[in-house]
Amino acid sequence: MKTNDIKNLDKKYYMNTFGERIPVSFERGKGIKLYADDGSVYTDFLAGIAVSAVGHNHKTLVKAITKQAKSVLHVSNYYYIEQQAKLAEKICNNSCADKVFFANSGAEANEGAIKLAKIYQYKSGHPEKYEIITLVNSFHGRTLATVAATGQEKFQTAFRPLTPGFKYVNINDIEALRDAIDENTCAVMMEMIQGESGVHHVNEKYVKEAYNLCRENDIVFIADEVQTGMGRTGKLFAYEHYGITPDIFTLAKALGGGVPIGAVCAKDNLAQSFAPGDHGSTFGGNPLACAAANAVFEIFKKEDLVNNSAIVGAYLKEKLEILAQNCDKIKEVRGRGLMIGIELEGVSAADIKHKLFDEKYLVGATATTIRLLPPLVITKRDADDFVKVFEKVLGE
Ligand SMILES: Cc1ncc(COP(=O)(O)O)c(C=O)c1O
Repeated sequence: MKTNDIKNLDKKYYMNTFGERIPVSFERGKGIKLYADDGSVYTDFLAGIAVSAVGHNHKTLVKAITKQAKSVLHVSNYYYIEQQAKLAEKICNNSCADKVFFANSGAEANEGAIKLAKIYQYKSGHPEKYEIITLVNSFHGRTLATVAATGQEKFQTAFRPLTPGFKYVNINDIEALRDAIDENTCAVMMEMIQGESGVHHVNEKYVKEAYNLCRENDIVFIADEVQTGMGRTGKLFAYEHYGITPDIFTLAKALGGGVPIGAVCAKDNLAQSFAPGDHGSTFGGNPLACAAANAVFEIFKKEDLVNNSAIVGAYLKEKLEILAQNCDKIKEVRGRGLMIGIELEGVSAADIKHKLFDEKYLVGATATTIRLLPPLVITKRDADDFVKVFEKVLGE
């Protein structure tokens, strides 16, 4: 089936939540390349929105998934699951978490985190502490609670009344956070770098002060690492840049290398609050998803991908900053590791994204910002190649 036929079928039968999609469909991938049905080859600098960290069609990942599919795909959380227990151990051994719960997506992981924070306060004798503070322009997902957690009107308007118990403060304004905290505050939840809204950093001083405010007031600090986690920012988890250890952090996207999985990762005192029956999932942590994520960890270690993200990310950012000095269309280059935002002026980011597509590069775009989230396997040479094409496109 070719793109046009797929498009017609999609238009007829698929809900129009994604609007006019980019007119291409990919038949296969390898590394950072995606091969379209018309034979053209694209370089993937989006990685399925920060998912395909180990690249496409990685043989270790494919082998692990195949092996698991040949033995058993799914059982139930009624039973003990080896892949699940091993993955939980890996996450805990590499982070500040003591216990993990597996979900199927980022939004679902964040739902679990919100529930865990609430039940922690409830079981600590503070049912009045129910309110979650998040940041303006944050993005935490599309379920009803995570839409309410997301500090952006445009995702909320049609779904009012929103799930109660959320309020928003401006990023990097510690006084605003101090004022917002009261006897009802249960948790503060933030992305260390806001991805969806255009790669905006929460600054180091703010993160530390916010974290300390949480400590002083027995408020749960939740880091949403759905996008920043798994090496994206040059550390395995972005919170490591700030010298803090969140009470809860969430993962999804890159964790399964393309197989859906999310994780709620928590310190023991928090994790203890979930008793049997308080939370659950049919698919969460199933053998297939966990086999994939275990393989992702193996590949990360073997190929030193977290370091590669830091090194190639810094290199790419520097090249873009040099380009920015001689190009008035680039206002700012932001980001860390291989999570980079290029804010443009005088040109629309969507136009540049489409021009890059014509040049066979896949990137993301918000209103004014080009988002780069390439697989963590890219090399300095791949970065150079991209910068050359980007310069050409901006010059047109
Ligand atoms: C920071 C953050 N949290 C949560 C989500 C939601 O993840 P999912 O789409 O897997 O539900 C996203 C998705 O872009 C995200 O970037």
